[in-house]
Formats: sequence, C-alpha cells, structure tokens
Amino acid sequence: MTTNPLSRGLELQETADPLVVFIFGVTGDLTRSKLMPALFSLYLNGRLSRIRIVGFARRDWSDDYLREQAASMTESMPASDEQRRRFLSTLTYLRSSFEDDSGYRRMPEYAEGFANRLYYLSTPPSSYEAVIRGLGETGLAEEQGGFTRIVIEKPFGSDLHSARRLNDLVLSHFDERQVYRIDHYLGKETVQNLMMLRFGNGIFEPVWNRHFIDHVQITVAESSGVGTRGNYYESAGAMRDMVQNHAFQLLAITAMEPPNDIRPESIRGEKLKVIQSLDAVTLREPEEHLVRAQYVGGVVDGEPVRGYREEDDVDPASRTETFVAMRLFLDTWRWAGVPFLLRTGKRLSRKITEISIHFKDPPLRHFTGGSHSVDRNVLAIRIQPEEGITLKMNAKIPGYATAARPVNMDFSYGASFGRAVPEAYERLLFDVMKGDPTLYARRDEIEASWAFVTPMLEYWRDSREPLCEYEAGGAGPSQARRLLGHDARRWRKL
Ligand code: BG6
Repeated sequence: MTTNPLSRGLELQETADPLVVFIFGVTGDLTRSKLMPALFSLYLNGRLSRIRIVGFARRDWSDDYLREQAASMTESMPASDEQRRRFLSTLTYLRSSFEDDSGYRRMPEYAEGFANRLYYLSTPPSSYEAVIRGLGETGLAEEQGGFTRIVIEKPFGSDLHSARRLNDLVLSHFDERQVYRIDHYLGKETVQNLMMLRFGNGIFEPVWNRHFIDHVQITVAESSGVGTRGNYYESAGAMRDMVQNHAFQLLAITAMEPPNDIRPESIRGEKLKVIQSLDAVTLREPEEHLVRAQYVGGVVDGEPVRGYREEDDVDPASRTETFVAMRLFLDTWRWAGVPFLLRTGKRLSRKITEISIHFKDPPLRHFTGGSHSVDRNVLAIRIQPEEGITLKMNAKIPGYATAARPVNMDFSYGASFGRAVPEAYERLLFDVMKGDPTLYARRDEIEASWAFVTPMLEYWRDSREPLCEYEAGGAGPSQARRLLGHDARRWRKL
C-alpha cells in the first residue's frame, strides 16, 4: 500500500484506548447494516487496541446467536478466519427489557476489566427515554477512572418540544461532553472535504458570497423507497427523516463562516449561527417557499414499483411527504438575498447527494447568442456516489467560429487517492472512541434546526393544501420548479 504514491498520507495510524461498547437495540437493522461492519472494519484496520462489544436487547438471543448474526453481517468483508474468530469472540449478549432496572444492574459485570464505556442507542426512538433513565438511575452515567460516553441515533426528537425534553433528560444524567448526537452525513468523507475545500484553499473563499453566487442547490435524492420502515416513516416523513438533520447539516457546512480554528466548539459554533440565521420568510409564506409531495407507482431501474400508499405498514390514505423542496435565505452579510434551494426525496430516478454552487453571469456577455452560448459556472460537490468535485466552465469550441461549450474540470476521489472512501459510521465511531465531538451535533444546533422546522410541520398538519404527487423513478414533482424563482435557473439534473 505505501508503495502506491496515491496513498501518501493515508497511512496515519492511531488506536482507540481499550473500551467496552454496549449496543442497545443490537437486534435491529442499524447494527446489521452499519454498526457491526464499522466495528469490524476498525478492528481489521488495527484501530481498536482491546474491545468488548455487548449487545443489549429484549429478544431471546444468546452469545452464540449474536456471534452467528455478527458473522453474517460481516461475511462480505475480506478477512482471515483467525481475524473473524477473534473479532466474534469479543461479542456477548445481555438480554433485558429496556424498562427493567435489572438489565442495567448487570452491566458492570459485562464491563469488568474496562474503565472506558460507550453506550450506543440504536433502539427505536420510543425507547430512548427508558434507556437513558435506566443508565442514569443505576449510576452508569458516571465516570470512574475512564470515560463514559453515550451516542444517540437520529431522529433526535420529533419536534422542538420533544427534542428539548430529550435533551433535558439526557443532560440530567450525563454531561454535554459525554453526549454524542449522531448525524451520519457529517461522517461522510466528502462532507468533511467541503470544509477542506473552503478553508484549505485560497481561491474559493473570496468568491463564496452574495457578490459572486447566484444561488446554491442542495440535493439529497434516493431511488429506494421506504422498504420495511413504513411504520417509522409514516410518523417521520422526509422533513423529519432528512431535512431537519442531514440536509441542514450540509447547508450549515456550505454556508458557515470560517471558524477561528478547527477545534470542535469553534466549528459547531459557526454551524449553529447558520441555522440561527435562517430567514423566517420561508415560514411566513410557506406556499411560496415550500413544496411537499408523495410518490405514486412508477419504474425505478427498469423495475415497476408501488406508490407510497401501497407500501407495507403505510396508511392507504397517508398524507406523509416523501419529497420536500424549499427555498431558504440566510440573514447574514455573506448570503443576504442568495436562495438556497434544497430538495430531498425517496423513489427519485437515482441516488445522489450533491451541493452545487451556481455562480453569477460574467458582467458583460460577449459570447451570447447562437446555438452555443456560455452557461453559468457551477461548482458541484458530489457527496455520493462517485465522490468528487466538478467545476463547469465555458470553453471555446475549436475552429474558426467563436462558439462556446460548457466543459468540466473534474476531481474524483477514486482516481486521485486510489481507494474507496471509508464508511461514515466507521469514522464517527472512531471519533467518539477518541473523544472528538466535531462531527456530532450539539444540543443548541439540534434545537435550532427543530425551531425552524417545527412551524413548517405544523403548517402542513393544519393546511388543507393538496399534497403534490410525483411518479416513482422521476425527478420529483413539477411544482418544485416554482421555487427557482427565475427563468435562468434550473434544478440540477438528477
Ligand atoms: C437515514 C434515513 O438517516 O439516512 C433514511 O433515515 C435514508 O431514510 C438514509 O435512506 C440515507 O443515508 P445514506 O447514507 O444512504 O445517504
């Protein structure tokens, strides 16, 4: 690996101190799809000096059954038999209900020999309060000769009131520095690279403002539907599932002021200011600035798919939104008057997360007219897939005529670094083990974003306005076009 010049700088090695990880709700989907593979990968990469993983859940599982399950969760990952055997031997299972104290009282015996403890809440959100209370009331939030940290999965609350209540509860037992509220979008390599792009280069920051930028688009599109999560999604919808957390985090990092330094509190403080500066015009005139929609049947990747109302565990008359688009403004000197156009949806034509910066036209338009005229410059940051950055600019078409055509200047992770980007959960788990909260959301950030989103949810709850529709596999509802507010603007092609 080190002989490959593309991997220079990739070999930095650091390990976490010995620790025990309790996964509450270990029998759920998140453990299967994200947590266990991330832990195994950290293990294989030599990042864990000594670890014990304790699954805590209600189901009638045993140590052996948990190990069998963990083996199947990680079977596609290349490793030797010996590595698998050793990793699986770190797993044990503690069966208990979340409401019953006796399970928590048995935890110290499972943690014996480890001073550092990490609690990961991956239960349904309805059990968060019970687990936090259980840990707090049995003295397990305290630190004795090591650290005790708690990771809380999203959704963190379902509106401002419930988020505040959950914060109050967790902070009545834990100190803020022990609490890690996860938003896995912050762990994505390309999201972190956005900060590097902005603050590690001299050429972007001078044009990163209202003088040069016409508007910004943030797209978080998925081609998948709600799958087996109909029950959860019915009570969430796209606003709670994607906007309040993932999309707002992308917005915050795109728009934040340069922090004084890269300490966690400096970065989190700047992100908070972005959310606090959101202009209330979006809330005052929701019919102008907000579109919600639900998918009907269609075709995705050549396969016919059902509409949202026909999905399992979904009300056939459901009014839950599976798509949201909004126009936002930030009341800051840097951004006043610049629309931030945000959209997210399930069952769109493909999975893509992208932030695009659309620059203004040049002051004089010498090269307009004819079939080949100049386009606006667009800096597109592809968060996933095909992670990379593209700058669209105009080039002269070779020949005698003076005609222009947009061309792309392209940076791709794969080509430049010669290896795939690591999974977000792996990075975030490692950060919490090291005690770095930079990529986790602070109490005030979460509450500020709920404070903005909650009135929109209430407006939808009370409004009679019909829900727009879009065909599965398409680009979303046509109504989203009106948010552009300008003939020369177009949503980026999905
Ligand atoms: C989760 C949402 O937080 O993020 C899901 O609950 C969504 O509905 C997922 O599918 C998307 O994450 P990623 O990393 O696949 O873009």
